Amino acid sequence: MPVKKKKPMAEKVKPVAKKKAVSSVDTAAAQKKVKLYQPVRGMKDILPKDDWYWSKIVDVAKNITRAYGYRYSEPPVLESASLFVKSLGKGTDVVDKEMYVFDDREGEKLALRPEFTAGVARSYISNGLLNNAQPVKMWMLGPLFRHDRPQAGRYRQFHQFDCEVIGEKDPVIDAELIVMAYNVIRDLGITPEVHINSIGTIEDRQNYTIELVGYLKSKRSYLSEESKKRILKNPLRVLDSKEEQDQEVIAEAPQIIDWLSAESKDFFMKVIEYLDELQIPYVLKPTLVRGLDYYSDTVFEIYSEQMIEGSQTALGGGGRYDGLLEQLGAREATPASGFALGVERIMLAMKELDQQAQGGPIKRDTIQNKIFFAQLGAQARRRSLFLIEQLRRVGIMVGSSLSKSSLKGQLEIANKQGSTHSIILGQKEVQDGTLIIRDMSSGVQEIIDQKRLEKHLRKLLEE
Ligand code: HAM
Repeated sequence: MPVKKKKPMAEKVKPVAKKKAVSSVDTAAAQKKVKLYQPVRGMKDILPKDDWYWSKIVDVAKNITRAYGYRYSEPPVLESASLFVKSLGKGTDVVDKEMYVFDDREGEKLALRPEFTAGVARSYISNGLLNNAQPVKMWMLGPLFRHDRPQAGRYRQFHQFDCEVIGEKDPVIDAELIVMAYNVIRDLGITPEVHINSIGTIEDRQNYTIELVGYLKSKRSYLSEESKKRILKNPLRVLDSKEEQDQEVIAEAPQIIDWLSAESKDFFMKVIEYLDELQIPYVLKPTLVRGLDYYSDTVFEIYSEQMIEGSQTALGGGGRYDGLLEQLGAREATPASGFALGVERIMLAMKELDQQAQGGPIKRDTIQNKIFFAQLGAQARRRSLFLIEQLRRVGIMVGSSLSKSSLKGQLEIANKQGSTHSIILGQKEVQDGTLIIRDMSSGVQEIIDQKRLEKHLRKLLEE
């Protein structure tokens, strides 16, 4: 029977919102005979309504990386496809199923980065960062691309906040990275739950894999189809299966911790001791192996404790990758460790918590101004431009809507922005060199000299 070849999803031309009610935008476009574009499947617009969440995540990430002495550093979005194949490994989902790979105009095989670590390792080597003081501590935030099946918390373009420490091996580095990931999640109002394990050295893993494959083969008939396929292809990943059917076999599988060399065991014990010392709670997960080939020794994932029942998706994960840089051509052993948190997943968790606390969706807005500047008339508008600019220069933020001319309309915006006071400048005030300050709740107004504006506002902002 001829096998019908399935077209890759990305090539399908999606009909434009067929079932949706026809909006006025659709009708207008139809009348003008213009094709209305939709985002590509799995790609998500970052919208102004999410500014509050997005900015908060970026602010927390910046504060924490500064506190721990990390510098911003970011590899390009495009790299040679083989860099990722070599680093993440054939047989991993990301390489086999999810990479966006294409030939560029010169015929070079390129990939949109599916993660940061391989690019950062390449960047460390090609920029000679080996000559910097070691270890080199770097952080980055940006878009990544994986052609996965889109669903809540899983997109084809998503963002990670990522930290990497390259050039030194010490359990204290791993503990510090785990604490940083923990602190970011906690500072965003989510209760973090850290899962941790050690997968030892390559040799430890090879010995363990022989034992594991033997065990899995003996239980083959109990396993899900996907796990059956993985027994030979990537047996460690069977331990990571979320299929209900696999859970009993996984629970009784031999544990990698029993196959660790004395050195790896000692390293892992130290990581855990440091976490205890720092009072960071964690759960030892003997089945945690992570889905990428470059890991060795410490591996960890971080979840939201509040969401852990309902969803199995990690907010982030990471671990040590001591062999990767040498594998990519570093001239000497260059140990490394790092983690990445998914920005969209964190945002979903924050929204979920907001909903739970408020009993429904809540609107969070970054545009909140305690003081609003309203103007009336062409001359007043010109003068307010100057006065608002002067206030901004001394760090005083005021709301304004200079494109609006009606006072009522402007005061409505002031109310929406939660302003307690509005400054009103009309024709008369421009002439007098004065301003009206209106208390938005009582409606009481007072007149002040324009020269006293900064002082007056500072007092109001302190209240
Ligand atoms: P990862 O576990 O593949 O690790 O990804 C880390 C996080 O990125 C996930 O926990 C999740 O929050 C987010 N993420 C992954 N795929 C998607 C997706 N399709 N949509 C939305 N969010 C997603 C790494 O990428 C490693 N490079 C981490 C690392 C850094 N290890 C050492 N250093």
